[in-house]
Amino acid sequence: MSLEGPILLTGARGSLGEQIQKIWSAAGIKIIATDRAELDITNLELVDKLVGELKPTVIVNAAAYNNVDGAEDPALYQIALAVNATGPTNLALTAKKYGAKFIHLSTDYVFSGVSNPVTVGEIATIGYKETANPHPINAYARTKFLGEEAVREVGGEYYLVRSSRLFGPLGSSPDVKESFVHLMLRVARERPLLKLVNDEWGCPTYTPHLATALLSLLTKPYPFGIYHLVNAGGGLTWYDFAKKIFALAGITTPIESVPGTVYSRPARRPGNVTLIQTRGPKLPSLDQGLSEFIHLLPNPSSD
Ligand SMILES: NC(=O)c1ccc[n+]([C@@H]2O[C@H](COP(=O)([O-])OP(=O)(O)OC[C@H]3O[C@@H](n4cnc5c(N)ncnc54)[C@H](OP(=O)(O)O)[C@@H]3O)[C@@H](O)[C@H]2O)c1
Repeated sequence: MSLEGPILLTGARGSLGEQIQKIWSAAGIKIIATDRAELDITNLELVDKLVGELKPTVIVNAAAYNNVDGAEDPALYQIALAVNATGPTNLALTAKKYGAKFIHLSTDYVFSGVSNPVTVGEIATIGYKETANPHPINAYARTKFLGEEAVREVGGEYYLVRSSRLFGPLGSSPDVKESFVHLMLRVARERPLLKLVNDEWGCPTYTPHLATALLSLLTKPYPFGIYHLVNAGGGLTWYDFAKKIFALAGITTPIESVPGTVYSRPARRPGNVTLIQTRGPKLPSLDQGLSEFIHLLPNPSSD
């Protein structure tokens, strides 16, 4: 199925937003790309005006406040709440009002990570299906959960898509969040030994693969509702993810496995938030995503 009419994208200079823009445009789709300067999603009046004028057939919300530790600060929490909860409320309301489909991105962190203990070794096959009940345990996750609730309550034709630990080319937004892959490649050069958390499981996902899967939601099309879209292969810890990154990048810096409690971080982190995908377009494996990304980078093992 081809997509008719323009598509309104928010958060277009973010890491996922830029991949959506690139991959969907290459597929011949007309995208109206906006970032905060063009469309502040926290302002209902602006959102309503732009959506009313442009009449997009689809609105894709890739805008977010993603600083997990920052959101614990009361002042920054208010910003997170505005972007992650009020923003999607405004977009869902206007999408419904003007008859657009709505794709909203959420996170594995809406789950507590404690109700599904992992007892298997490297790969977590136990986790959260699309029907599981969210129970956020930190401030950032609460704001994302409130955004999810708003989208569900407004109703209409929506896809609520949870993903996890995104990595890929960095967006051009000035506040863009460095991915774990970028972080590892940087600190491996700076430190003689890395201590990596080995009791927090998730499903790292390559942004170009996620952008492609999001497009498939519309073109197949899939029924509206909640989707878990992550690279295939099950959940793994930061420690095991780092091992994969270093093996592919030819990095030999030693790494040590530690519990999350070793680091004092303002936000509490969930244990196992492996997302189980039972519906929707299948993404390639994490190994494939990581390999594609590492090969894009200029010789990661050199100084
Ligand atoms: N990153 C992860 O590991 C991860 C994991 C799971 C789920 N997700 C979800 O995936 C989605 C994309 O994440 P990402 O990592 O690509 O995000 P990102 O790189 O941090 O980009 C977020 C974008 O949102 C924009 N933005 C912030 N406030 C805004 C506002 N008031 N109005 C309009 N735009 C605003 C930013 O614009 P400026 O350029 O103006 O700052 C930036 O371009 C988000 O929903 C996120 O919660 C991410």
